[in-house]
Amino acid sequence: MRVLVLGTAAGGGVPQWNCACPGCAAARADRRLRRRHASIAVEAGPGRWYVVNATPDIGEQIEACPQLHPGPGRRDTPVAGVILTDAELDHTLGILRLREASGLRIAATGAVRAALADGLRLDAVLAPYAGISWTELPEKAPEALDGGPLEIQAVRMSGKRPRYAAELETAAGDAWVVALRVRDRRTGKVLVYAPCLAAWPAELDEALAGADCVFADGTFWDDEEPRRAGFTGRTATEMGHLPISGPGGTAGRLAVLPAARRLYTHLNNTNPLVDPDDAGHRRLAAAGIEVAREGTVIEL
Ligand code: MLT
Ligand code: MN
Ligand code: ZN
Repeated sequence: MRVLVLGTAAGGGVPQWNCACPGCAAARADRRLRRRHASIAVEAGPGRWYVVNATPDIGEQIEACPQLHPGPGRRDTPVAGVILTDAELDHTLGILRLREASGLRIAATGAVRAALADGLRLDAVLAPYAGISWTELPEKAPEALDGGPLEIQAVRMSGKRPRYAAELETAAGDAWVVALRVRDRRTGKVLVYAPCLAAWPAELDEALAGADCVFADGTFWDDEEPRRAGFTGRTATEMGHLPISGPGGTAGRLAVLPAARRLYTHLNNTNPLVDPDDAGHRRLAAAGIEVAREGTVIEL
């Protein structure tokens, strides 16, 4: 299985357009420090890729990866579709940027689909451009992706809703945030992509058993970070993101996993890890944990 890292930032990216924090200012001065919104792509078949979460940066993310460039026919694209792990704007606004497609395949849970259809009116808005063909992400058992070698499964993480969907009435279940588990039947290798962890449910431990590569929510370094930064009165946990460090931090959980690759993604611009020289990188490396880098190709 091949995995492309398309982006590693939380909402706003680094730099965020209206933010002058040290991380954003540094990224304005040095392009190498920029981070696009968190996303990966997985190869579902030779030259056929699914993008996991469609971010506002999706156009630039596709351009940055030769594997995703169109051709050989004028409108041939290796981008076969989109898989969604939640309905957050930062993970779904990119769908609108794909409107030039002849059609769009999107796999999501019922709750995510309902949020996009009823909250954002996505189907109605896109219908005159590119019709959406929806697939329900399988939760109970893995299912083959497009009949190919990859099996995918959604693992329910939390009922954390996007703010725009806070009042939405839906009968579509409560799988608002899931982790994506991908298994390659050819090799038995397993990838788990979990960019939003409001909690660490037992289902996540089950999904991680036997995983070879895991991407985890690295939004905030510590629980007080958002309050310290002054943009909210809430802690990281109260914002729906378990912090990396501290008691109950996710680093302690990742450190004991057998997976060969353990990577943080979805970094907020306040996270000291956006600075490649921050001491946190060495602390994590000592526990076998990396911060994902954009443009990386992971072969599993
Ligand atoms: C999140 O990752 O928690 C959301 O993107 C935050 C938000 O914009 O509400
Ligand atoms: Mn986000
Ligand atoms: Zn900032």
